[in-house]
Amino acid sequence: MARRERRCKITVVGAGQVGATTAHWLVSEQLGDVMLVDIAEGMAAGKALDLLEATPIAGSDCFIVGHCDYAKTAGSDIIVITAGVPRKPGMSRDDLLQTNAGIVKDVAEQVSRHSPDAVIIVVSNPLDVMTWLTMKVSGFPPERVIGMAGVLDTARFRTFIALELGVSVEDVQAMVLGGHGDSMVPLVSCTSVSGIPVAQLIPHDRLAELIKRTANGGAEIVNLLKTGSAFYAPGAAVAQMVEAIERDKKRVLPAAVYCRGEYGLDDVYIGLPIVLGAGGCEKILQLQLAPDELEALRKSAAEVKANIAKLKL
Ligand code: NAI
Ligand code: 2OP
Repeated sequence: MARRERRCKITVVGAGQVGATTAHWLVSEQLGDVMLVDIAEGMAAGKALDLLEATPIAGSDCFIVGHCDYAKTAGSDIIVITAGVPRKPGMSRDDLLQTNAGIVKDVAEQVSRHSPDAVIIVVSNPLDVMTWLTMKVSGFPPERVIGMAGVLDTARFRTFIALELGVSVEDVQAMVLGGHGDSMVPLVSCTSVSGIPVAQLIPHDRLAELIKRTANGGAEIVNLLKTGSAFYAPGAAVAQMVEAIERDKKRVLPAAVYCRGEYGLDDVYIGLPIVLGAGGCEKILQLQLAPDELEALRKSAAEVKANIAKLKL
């Protein structure tokens, strides 16, 4: 992607909890001008105007506007898809499959037609399946269609480790791979505190509890909120990915990407460590996983594939 002479144009589809919070992070971090789109008339326009009126206080020169018309998204550099329904207590992300597939299919068709060169970040759940669907429907190269989940799941794991040890979240490094669901794969072998392997700091059984809490992190918030799912940390996670693309940072982050043989997986989206830059997923890093980690990753991918097979389009 050539260096831009104007601010990045970022379309966020879905002006609900995640979409609006993402827009808030994008504007306050001055990552680009934001087009907020929602099917609910007035929702995108109202939230965008409210955010625009915050820019003099926040000291942000970014522009934000909301509407229902996809023509206004034309020429976007980055598109974030958050349209869809969130889960309620007792629902799994997979319960959202058919409803959100219909919504995401429609959105992917529209945004890809108006912004054929964009990088798309998918957020709608079930995440890995919706990202696969977006790639197929848009016809975009897989490098330019990426799912956000690993940054969020990893942030949760980092938070719980920092809380446990009473240390700064900044000093906790981790990597959560796999599907965005109960079968996600937090890699203990890649988790450290300022370079100190986490296993030297937290006993095995306690670490297992923190891993379980991470895998259950989305449901923990759903059960507290009762009316929807998490949005602050998801919005922050999307903003970090947008920043990596917009500033061509070549960040090493976990994200849902399309597999063509990596880790023995094919034609499936799953969370893997990638290099994220202006071109989207610029590289998938091939780690030497422990046998149990590789087995867990493959099991998680098999679950995503089974859900892809259930899509009724
Ligand atoms: P929400 O209900 O607050 O917002 C969804 C918005 O999508 C609504 O404003 C709705 O009007 C809009 N929408 C529905 N159909 C549309 C269409 N065809 N075109 C444009 N807009 C449309 O839900 P929330 O909390 O923002 O969650 C959005 C999605 O993100 C859910 O599927 C949720 O499960 C998922 N999610 C994924 C995360 C991840 O880590 N990947 C984290 C958090 C949420
Ligand atoms: C989360 O993990 C619901 O996927 C969403 O919070």
